[in-house]
Order: sequence, then structure tokens, then C-alpha cells
Amino acid sequence: MADFSTTYMGVSLKNPLIVAASSISNYVDKVKRAEEIGAGALVIRSLFEEQIQHDDMTMQEFMERAANISPEIQSGFYPPVESGGPREHLMWVEKTRRAVNIPIFASLNAVSPGAWTSYAKQLEETGVAGLEINYYVVAADPDVPGSELEKKLFDIVESVASEVSIPVSVKLSPYYTSTPNVVKEIEQRGAKAVVLFNRFLQPDIDVDEEALVNNMSYSTPAEMKVPLRWVALLYGRTRMDLALNTGVHSGKDVAKALLAGASAVQVASTLLENGLPYISTMLMQLQSWMDEKGYDKLGDFRGKVSQKNVPDAFGFERAQYMKLLMSQQ
Ligand SMILES: Cc1cc2nc3c(=O)[nH]c(=O)nc-3n(C[C@H](O)[C@H](O)[C@H](O)COP(=O)(O)O)c2cc1C
Repeated sequence: MADFSTTYMGVSLKNPLIVAASSISNYVDKVKRAEEIGAGALVIRSLFEEQIQHDDMTMQEFMERAANISPEIQSGFYPPVESGGPREHLMWVEKTRRAVNIPIFASLNAVSPGAWTSYAKQLEETGVAGLEINYYVVAADPDVPGSELEKKLFDIVESVASEVSIPVSVKLSPYYTSTPNVVKEIEQRGAKAVVLFNRFLQPDIDVDEEALVNNMSYSTPAEMKVPLRWVALLYGRTRMDLALNTGVHSGKDVAKALLAGASAVQVASTLLENGLPYISTMLMQLQSWMDEKGYDKLGDFRGKVSQKNVPDAFGFERAQYMKLLMSQQ
């Protein structure tokens, strides 16, 4: 049996397969099952500040509407009703964390600077092994330069990393002009790992209805090529651990991620499509590949096909692109 152990953001994992933030964490039973079947760790679905604000608003609307029917509500006859705020999420994170032995990571997506640090601290208090920053803005305003948005991210990483004592990772968007520079900056501000990359659902247009459609869709293995290239380019150029995310659908995909230099992979779509037992299938596939190659542990081959270690270092850059285009008839 090969040794699958790895370290991710300073936390020891029995294997590199992390269940990504997703609906799998909605039920403690599913998290327990993921552990039984062999997951190395799990990220709990993000705490979204906007969701809390929305819940607060809904409560406010409810109070206003109710006051029209029953003025006692506003007159203080009934005890004040408060929105659950982040409390419900925090209780659920703690409950999940207590139910299993594998490392559980929390994820946070806030908007206002104060909320980032305050929620980060509260998530730390649930006893999680680490905190993933899920930062994403759609840069739709022509008056806001990219540098301003990046500075916001750097400030958030710095303030969160200095506020908590658990390790902090950043789940990045693939849409930066210079991913290596963003990675360097977040490392300098205290992040211990980077997740490459988050996957965003893109709206579509229904031509019959002439309307916007937002459908949930799962990733495909072809989508793994973007994060694979960036993991390979970054391996050995940062002290942070790299987690490859998006498009990992098989044990061979896990092997690819490790060959590029990842310390771990995060997986959601294929588990939602194939069910949690697929975790053990993926681990068995990784095992057979390692047996075939004669590898005993992940360190035997991690980063072997990174840019740093391949003879054709430009293969990960632009030269390959030109060569391929020119070779087409
Ligand atoms: C149902 C569902 C819910 C998700 N919820 C979150 C979330 O709360 N926070 C987050 O950072 N990513 C979330 N994601 C994104 C996944 O964590 C992951 O980044 C993405 O699905 C790409 O990985 P995959 O190709 O293995 O699916 C969600 C994905 C799915 C399918």
C-alpha cells in the first residue's frame, strides 16, 4: 500500500483528496461518509456575508409586513426577533468538525472589511483546522482598475491572516493578469496555501425566452488544464502549498495534479455526479498508477512535470501555443 500522506497549509492529511466546498457539507452524515470512504479532508460550504445580509433583510421585511397586520409586533408586545446571523452556520461548522477526525476547513466569502476579520475569528473559534478565503468579484466597472481589486484581496488576506492563528488559504479566481504576482503577494501577507482555481458558474441566454438563465452545471475533466498549467508554473516558486481545483474527475487526474506540483486536490463535481464512494475509486486508481510506476510515496513524483523540472520549460508558456497553431493544416 502506497503512502499517500501529504501536508496542506501545514496540516497533515492522510491523502491529498480534499472534498471541496460544496453541498456535500450540507449534511453531517455525508461528511461522515466521506471520511469513512477515505477523504483526506473536507472544506465546508462558504459562509457568505451577502447571504446573512439577505436573511437580515428578509427578517426586516417580515417584521414590517407583520407590523401592518399586527401592530403589537412593533410596539414591543412580542420579544424582539433577531436574524440568526452567522450563528447557524458557525454552529453547523462546529457540529461537523466534532463529528469526524479528518481535518475540516471553513470557507469565508465576505464583502465588508470588518466582516472578513470578524467572521474569520468566529470560524476559527469553531475549532476548524484552517480557513479558506473565497474572494471573487466580477470586475464589471470600467472605472475600477485591476490593481485596486487586487489590493483589496491583499488587504483582506493580510487582515484575516493576522487576526487568526489557524492557517489561511486563498481560493483564487483564474482571471488575474499575473497569477504568479498575486500568488507572491498573498504569500507575503501570510497565506499558507493557494487553491487554483475556483470555478464560477457563467450565466447563459435562452434564445426562445430571450432571457438570462443561471443553471447549475458540473465541471468536466477538460477544465483541469487551466489549473494544471498554473500549478506546474508555480511549483517551486512559492513556499505555499498548491491545491489544484476544478476538473479533477479520476485518480489519474490526481496523479497529474501531483506531477505538476500540487500538495492536494479539491474535488466536488465528480463526487456529486458519481456519489461519495467514488472517493475510494479515485484513491484506488491513484494506487494502481503509483504501483505501475513503482512509486511508494507522493514525494517520489510531486512536481516531476512542473515547469521547473521538465526539459522543455517553455512548454508551459507561449512557445507551445505557436508551435501547435503552426502545425495545424
Ligand atoms: C453545489 C456546489 C456548491 C458549491 N459551493 C461552494 C462554496 O460554498 N464555496 C466555494 O468556495 N466553492 C463552492 N463550490 C465550488 C467548488 O468548491 C469547486 O471549486 C468547483 O466545483 C470546482 O471543482 P470541481 O471541478 O471538482 O467541481 C460549489 C460547487 C458546487 C458544485
